[in-house]
Amino acid sequence: MCYQPAFLQIPYSMKQEKTSFLPTENSLVDMFSRSISYLRLSLTDRCNLRCLYCVTENEANGSLTKLQHDELLTYEELLRVVRVAVAMGITKVRLTGGEPLVRRGVLDFISHLGAIEGLDDIRITTNGLLLEQFGPKLHAAGVNKVNISLDSLRPDRVAAITGADCFNQVWRGIETMLALGCAPVKLNMVVMRHINDDEIVAFARLSQQLPLQVRFIEFMPIGVSSRWNSDTYIDTDEIMARIRALGELIPLHAGRNDGPAQVFRLGSDAIGSLGFISPISHHFCSRCNRLRLTSSGALRSCLLHDDEVDLRAVIRERSTDAAIAAALLTAIRNKPRGHHLKELIRQTGGDCHGRMSRIGG
Ligand code: 5AD
Ligand code: SF4
Repeated sequence: MCYQPAFLQIPYSMKQEKTSFLPTENSLVDMFSRSISYLRLSLTDRCNLRCLYCVTENEANGSLTKLQHDELLTYEELLRVVRVAVAMGITKVRLTGGEPLVRRGVLDFISHLGAIEGLDDIRITTNGLLLEQFGPKLHAAGVNKVNISLDSLRPDRVAAITGADCFNQVWRGIETMLALGCAPVKLNMVVMRHINDDEIVAFARLSQQLPLQVRFIEFMPIGVSSRWNSDTYIDTDEIMARIRALGELIPLHAGRNDGPAQVFRLGSDAIGSLGFISPISHHFCSRCNRLRLTSSGALRSCLLHDDEVDLRAVIRERSTDAAIAAALLTAIRNKPRGHHLKELIRQTGGDCHGRMSRIGG
């Protein structure tokens, strides 16, 4: 059966609207010929942790300013956006936060998401605290790919980095997902010199023993006065050099939907793999296929550019699928060729950009 998206059946009144383009399927190609197929949804800016690379010291010790409930898009609004986006060519959605699993009703939302025709890939990025509890239901709702933030394998250090003594709980979450058959589970390690870089080798070894993809992420200066500085930053070349001392890094082919990581196996016997994400040293903008929706309903075509389209206003003031589609196209049309994080760091010393927990990483 031919699936005709609702917004293509345009009622007469809407034809009067000044939409300079009417969306058609596969129209999600930006000005630099990148095909946009991946939407990241930040469900909430709230989080049950206070990771040191995400919040400032003051915020970690005091309270964070949080969005009010009506500032968030409702689940109905989010589902509507995703339906329109999927009809236009989005095939993959990732749920992020803050911590997406702390938003009430998230499992119900995910099962509705899973019912959207054409959306074949739903993933989640989580700090893992609630995975032991939610894993089986997530799996049942069709989410079988999870990225879990884990920056250390030492419980005391995890507590120092996240503000909570949670290593064992997170580890049980990882085991829960593996037991459900969700391999490879991806672990995100933000590598920071003098904070956790002495564990690079231990994390790399973990990928030899378990069906995990351990991803080493370059620390980015995100968040006003985040604790990034040029001493804590380590680039991918150095991380790789330390791992090469353990064995050969064998390149693996990344799939179309696999994102920006360069993926390798550490030695031919490794069960899992290693991913390297290098937003600063080797930025991957030319391959970027993503669009983000922040927890306050702003469409962002780049993590590191603050240009946003206020989709929440579009939904609440104009309330048509055609207007949502037009907003998506505007964001994509304005997607910059790339970011200039290196240059910005040079100019500012690393004091850049909005809050990760709002944007969703
Ligand atoms: N630099 C690099 N990665 C970060 N993350 C959060 N803040 C930063 C930062 N400043 C990562 C976390 C999380 C993912 C969504 O983004 O590891 O897993
Ligand atoms: Fe929470 Fe993720 Fe920020 Fe850590 S990085 S405080 S887990 S939103």
